[in-house]
Amino acid sequence: MKRVKAIYPGSFDPPTNGHLDLIERGSKIFDELIVAILRNPEKDPLFTVGERRQMLEAMTAEFDNVSIDTFHGLTVDYALRVGAQALLRGIRAISDYEYELQMALMNRKLQPGLETVFMMPAEKYSYLSSRLVREVAQLGGSINCLVPELVAQKVREKIEIANKFDDAASGARSPEASEAERANADRTAERKTRVRKKKA
Ligand code: PNS
Repeated sequence: MKRVKAIYPGSFDPPTNGHLDLIERGSKIFDELIVAILRNPEKDPLFTVGERRQMLEAMTAEFDNVSIDTFHGLTVDYALRVGAQALLRGIRAISDYEYELQMALMNRKLQPGLETVFMMPAEKYSYLSSRLVREVAQLGGSINCLVPELVAQKVREKIEIANKFDDAASGARSPEASEAERANADRTAERKTRVRKKKA
C-alpha cells in the first residue's frame, strides 16, 4: 500500500494551539508528517529556529508519525528532498484563502507532483495567529488557552528579557547616567533603528 508523507511548512513564531490542532488532524490522515520550520534570515523573529524546534518537539512528542525539521529556500525543493507527496496548510477563514490559493497554485506550477492539502483547524482557533499571540503578549494580555503552557512560559520569558533590555536602555539615557552608559544606550538605539529600517 502507498504511504503518504506530508510536510507542514510555516514560521511557527511561536507555535500556537491552532498549529497543534492542525498537526493532530494531519497526523491522522498522513502516514508521516514533517513540521518544517522556515529558516528565513530576512525576518526578525521572536524565537530562534532552534527554540521553535524545541517547542514543537515538546508539543508533538505524543504523535509517533510527526517529526520536526527546518529548511530554507523553496518549500517545493524541500518537499522533493524529503520525498513528500503532500503539503499541508491550514485555512482558518475566507481571508486566508486568497493567499493560500496563490501559494498552492505557484507551488503546483513549480512542482506539479506535490499536492497541497488544506485543512481547517477547530472553529475555536479560527481567529488565532502567531502574530496576534506576539502582540497580545507584548502588550501585557493573557495568552493562556492560545498556546500550550510551555510556549506561553517561553513567550513570557522572551518579553520579560526584551522589556528589561528596553528599561536598561532608557535608564541609561537619563541625566544621572554616566557617559559610558549613555554611549551604550545610543549604540542600542542605533542598532534598533537599523533593524527597523531593514524590516521596513
Ligand atoms: O506560517 P507562514 O509564515 O504563513 O508560512 C509561510 C511559508 C513558510 C509556508 C511560505 O512563506 C513558504 O513556503 N516560504 C518558503 C519560500 C517559498 O517556497 N516561496 C514560494 C511560495 S509559493
